[in-house]
Amino acid sequence: MAEINLDKIYSSFLLALEESHDSESLSDLQKEYLGKNSVISEQRKNISNLSDLDKKKFGKIIKDVSEKINTDIENKKIVIKRDKYENKENSENVDISIDWLESTGTKEHVISSVMNEVVQIFSSIGYTVAHGPEAETSWHNFDALNTPVWHPARYESDTLYIDKKLDNLLRTQTSTVQVRHMQENKPPIYIVSPGRVYRSDQLDSTHSPVFHQIEGLAVDDAITFTDLKGTLEFFVKEFFGNNVKTKFIPHFFPFTEPSAEVLVSWKDGDWLEILGCGMVDPNVFENVGFKKGTQGFAFGVGVERLAMLRHNIDHIKNFYDNDLRFLRQF
Ligand code: DAH
Repeated sequence: MAEINLDKIYSSFLLALEESHDSESLSDLQKEYLGKNSVISEQRKNISNLSDLDKKKFGKIIKDVSEKINTDIENKKIVIKRDKYENKENSENVDISIDWLESTGTKEHVISSVMNEVVQIFSSIGYTVAHGPEAETSWHNFDALNTPVWHPARYESDTLYIDKKLDNLLRTQTSTVQVRHMQENKPPIYIVSPGRVYRSDQLDSTHSPVFHQIEGLAVDDAITFTDLKGTLEFFVKEFFGNNVKTKFIPHFFPFTEPSAEVLVSWKDGDWLEILGCGMVDPNVFENVGFKKGTQGFAFGVGVERLAMLRHNIDHIKNFYDNDLRFLRQF
């Protein structure tokens, strides 16, 4: 009887198994160790030449090893499947059953990857993702956000209305999602809302009639401006790096009081504006039926702006041209 060392074969199988991390390599492994031309099949063929006693003995050994290999492969398949979902869940830090951007297996557009990255940063500190419609009521887009009829943002020159009475429009800001979310939920609230917004703007190097924003809203007991500063400083450092400084300068937004713009220190010593923010105006809380004294902060970031700064992109139209030579760089 030829010496067969199935222990050695099994050990080498185990090593190879450890290196296999997807279903293709597992099925290759199955072929290699249990398939028609595998060493184990060769051994099985040789059994017929053995004495009856040896047939029984080696037949059993071969059977046991084959079964072990099969079981190990099946178990590994389960681990790989579980890891896949675990990794996905860990990397997104959100409920994967409400995956907000379905992956088609293709490469992400730079706008999507910047949006994902920002969502990721906020989800790492406990924010969840909320959504609202792009076709909105003027009430959600303006009135509820303390923006009265006389405000210039409501002019037709600034806004794409979708009916003659000006009751409905393509949302001009993701701040609408604050309102919709507060109508449906009670504090504590920690949400970010990435999405597309529309304005009646001419295309120039930094403006486009369609662009993307990420809105943030935190409403909780005794939230203060200090929380807002700390949160946004954390975000800026995560996104741009630890060396980047932030500056908060006073600004006006109808839906926050006080309001500020956040600037970041740039390479050539410039300060560049990246977002608007502030403490939610009490009128906004009143409009969604929250009790007096509720406190919270909000912010809105322009995604194209972030991407242009990060990648040194000089014209906003690059994002929408779909020129693969541009898109492949990211
Ligand atoms: N909605 C503002 C805009 O489109 C951005 C913004 C500023 C959002 C301040 C906010 C905020 O939530 O608090 O320009």
